[in-house]
Amino acid sequence: MPSEKKHICIIGAGASGLGCLRYFTENQERFTVVAYEQGSRIGGTWIYSDHSGSDKNGRPIHSSMYKSLVINIPKQIMAFPDFPFDSDLPSFFGHREVLKYLEKYTEHFRLLPYIRFNTRVLMVKPRHIGDGLWGTKWNVNIEPSNNSHSSPTANDFDAVIVCTGQYAVPNIPDYPGLKKFKGTTIHSHSYRSPDIFRDKTVLTIGASFSGWDITTEVASLAQYVYFSHRGEHKLRHFPKNVELVSRVEGFTKNAVILANGSQVAIDAVVFNTGYKHNFSFLSPDCGFEVTPDNTIRHLYKHTINIANPTLSFISILNNSLPFPCISILARYFKAVLEEQIRLPSRKGMLLAEQEELQKRLDRNWPPRYLHRMEDFQFEMCDEIAKEVGIEPLPRWIKKLFDYHIVKLFENIHTAKKYNYRIIEPDGFEIVP
Ligand SMILES: Cc1cc2nc3c(=O)[nH]c(=O)nc-3n(C[C@H](O)[C@H](O)[C@H](O)COP(=O)(O)OP(=O)(O)OC[C@H]3O[C@@H](n4cnc5c(N)ncnc54)[C@H](O)[C@@H]3O)c2cc1C
Ligand SMILES: NC(=O)c1ccc[n+]([C@@H]2O[C@H](COP(=O)([O-])OP(=O)(O)OC[C@H]3O[C@@H](n4cnc5c(N)ncnc54)[C@H](OP(=O)(O)O)[C@@H]3O)[C@@H](O)[C@H]2O)c1
Repeated sequence: MPSEKKHICIIGAGASGLGCLRYFTENQERFTVVAYEQGSRIGGTWIYSDHSGSDKNGRPIHSSMYKSLVINIPKQIMAFPDFPFDSDLPSFFGHREVLKYLEKYTEHFRLLPYIRFNTRVLMVKPRHIGDGLWGTKWNVNIEPSNNSHSSPTANDFDAVIVCTGQYAVPNIPDYPGLKKFKGTTIHSHSYRSPDIFRDKTVLTIGASFSGWDITTEVASLAQYVYFSHRGEHKLRHFPKNVELVSRVEGFTKNAVILANGSQVAIDAVVFNTGYKHNFSFLSPDCGFEVTPDNTIRHLYKHTINIANPTLSFISILNNSLPFPCISILARYFKAVLEEQIRLPSRKGMLLAEQEELQKRLDRNWPPRYLHRMEDFQFEMCDEIAKEVGIEPLPRWIKKLFDYHIVKLFENIHTAKKYNYRIIEPDGFEIVP
């Protein structure tokens, strides 16, 4: 057991930072906690802005939220397990309700006093002072991110939790000829509404959630939409003016060149091609590595930095239930820092990481899907709950998740019209 209070730094006050604060502030005897947030309010991704690019302080806008966005997970299984969404809400609703929910969560667990707003973390550097779990101190450099003129300062911490999100830096593939293309180009990070595409011929690239949603919305105003993806995709039920085309090979001044050799004239391109991690504020000697295909290597349970385990990453999972997983992983890391549970040896953790990768390769997923969870998330959360001695996620979460995923791939739009009611202990029903 640690004999003195440990100083914990959380970076970011979105859902992950808040979920971590909620658990770490419970143990005031062991921990002092501060969360640095570059923005001026809590919520991260869920803070919608009509603007894209930079805010009034010249700061890049973090959120990739678009105006019409409706949650893609029913509220019952999206929520933090011990803090349900308002019972008056249907199962699906717009992004504003999620921001309100996170504000209520912050108020309920009295988290605001622990958050330093308008404070950007510039650099985190490890300093080795000894062996064992607490053998590294973390020097955290911060600066004001509003127009205040105070200078950067630095503080030492015993542990750092990175909660900076994963959907703020656009991934735009470097296609031959793209720079010569004269039409409009936009990434889903900056997309807010379809108005600029009225009567245009548009190419959309990428077939995950942004791709599906934005393609359909753009098609409602555009004259014609070409929809391109590089692999298999599960979207059915396109509007009539959407045509599936093969993968993109390059661009000319006014057209896209497709893999089948054809050229199609277009006015605009929407890149729904996902995001890149940006950990430029973590010094290269932290011990982890970001691969060119955007996975983070040398993490145990997709969370703990194996080389220096007092640094962790919350919420780098894909295709998961973010809030429930945050609530489990935050408590896992807390139990590690409370020395309630012991981590395996470094070799053991690296082996476990390799096994995580192998499980995905066995499904014929590419290595870039290392953090893709789907049903693996329930296995992982159950294992952790058992090890930490906390309530596992209720059984109905997996049942409803499995049911909803099938509905989503049948038809993403009608899937969001369902209303569910949970029947404890392990069922659910559809209600009108
Ligand atoms: C368009 C879109 C739709 C989504 N829809 C759903 C959905 O329907 N349901 C669902 O469950 N999930 C959805 N998600 C996933 C969503 O990312 C998670 O729900 C959740 O918001 C993740 O929270 P986070 O705290 O990890 O990251 P974020 O919400 O991105 O928060 C990160 C915070 O860190 C701060 N920060 C970043 N860098 C620094 C720094 N250097 N110093 C200080 N602060 C910093 C940022 O300002 C931000 O406040 C969606 C994501 C996107 C992009
Ligand atoms: N609530 C909602 O309805 C909603 C809406 C939008 C987004 N979201 C959430 O937001 C997050 C981000 O979703 P996202 O769709 O923006 O990103 P994403 O899930 O990372 O998907 C990116 C897509 O781009 C493709 N892609 C990447 N590089 C490419 C390339 N070079 N050429 C062609 N295609 C390429 C990927 O293909 P591969 O699979 O082959 O890599 C994938 O289909 C997710 O958590 C999602 O659930 C939610």
